[in-house]
Amino acid sequence: MKIVVTGGAGFVGSAFVRLALAGPADIHIANVDALTYAGNLENLAAVSGDPRYSFHKADITDPAAIEAVFAEFQPDAVVHFAAESHVDRSILSPEPVIRTNLNGTFTLLEAARRHQTARFVHVSTDEVYGSIDEPYEADEHYPLRASSPYSASKAGSDLLALSYCTTYKMNVSVTRASNNYGPFQFPEKLIPLMIANALEGKALPVYGDGMQIRDWLYVDDHCRAIRAVLEKGRAGEVYNIGGSRALPNIEVVQRILAANGQPESLIKYVTDRPGHDRRYAITSDKVERETGWKPQVEFEQGLADTVRWFRDNTGWIANVRSGAYRDFYESNYATR
Ligand code: NAD
Ligand code: TYD
Repeated sequence: MKIVVTGGAGFVGSAFVRLALAGPADIHIANVDALTYAGNLENLAAVSGDPRYSFHKADITDPAAIEAVFAEFQPDAVVHFAAESHVDRSILSPEPVIRTNLNGTFTLLEAARRHQTARFVHVSTDEVYGSIDEPYEADEHYPLRASSPYSASKAGSDLLALSYCTTYKMNVSVTRASNNYGPFQFPEKLIPLMIANALEGKALPVYGDGMQIRDWLYVDDHCRAIRAVLEKGRAGEVYNIGGSRALPNIEVVQRILAANGQPESLIKYVTDRPGHDRRYAITSDKVERETGWKPQVEFEQGLADTVRWFRDNTGWIANVRSGAYRDFYESNYATR
């Protein structure tokens, strides 16, 4: 099987590439990535010499560049990760989010349509359902109530992807995962930011009262679920992928400090995020029933492994924290 993976130099995409290439020998992957601030080829050092892997530096909003990849590689499937993936950035600067997440998805769908690509998996997020009151959990029919430019752009791209199934009979599935964590995650998201700050003895900025709830999913579990949907998912269907581990943010932060043997006095409560979703909660019954997937990594184990990985890879953190990251960090946290 020849798979175009978009965003394969990012956090989840690179984990998927590593996982897929560790599987059957007849898998070939073309990784299409523009290498934005979040794209890092260091994440793929383990597979860069594999003859089944190729890298194509291209922007998914550039139809000519995407056409060239499809014409050369003739994929059997697309697994579409590339996105502007961070809520805070989408609040500070929504334009790149809308461009990549909406126009980029459109460009890929059009290329897949022209080339009659047999399968398309659009990777999305549970954030499209917005904040969910206790005790409810969203299934795939829950209304879309996106709150941020990021989640709204993902909801829009989900609908666009599904419309290509209805209208053009393309074999498209959409996955909606909960919050991921694990090695190689860019330190702008909660868990890697807190670990990176803790390692440097810096303050850990908790938004609002820290009682917002997220459902944590280890990145490799997410990637195994995407592979299961790629192989067994049905056309036109949406699959929620959750970690079954809901925790308030403050508890996650306390566990990170405990894992590092550091005091809770490093926690700094800061001004809340505008439009901050209070609680995410999904049920993954459908993907479990239809594909047999289940999360394998307990949060305690996954967090311990992640903390250890960041501790062992301070050079990686230093590289990604240079340059543009500093500008973002200053604008995001300066006024909090
Ligand atoms: P990331 O920010 O770590 O990586 C995004 C990748 O996309 C980077 O390699 C970047 O260079 C690339 N990219 C961005 N714009 C591009 C463009 N215009 N053209 C080509 N490449 C471009 O993101 P991530 O956390 O790995 O998320 C990947 C996908 O998974 C996203 O679609 C996101 O919505 C989804 N998702 C992520 C999570 C999570 O917790 N991280 C949870 C659910 C769903
Ligand atoms: P984040 O990792 O940005 O993911 P998302 O907003 O997509 O869920 O944030 C996870 C939670 O952590 C969210 O409730 C916001 C909160 N948060 C903080 O409290 N402080 C921070 O510095 C960051 C980045 C996030």
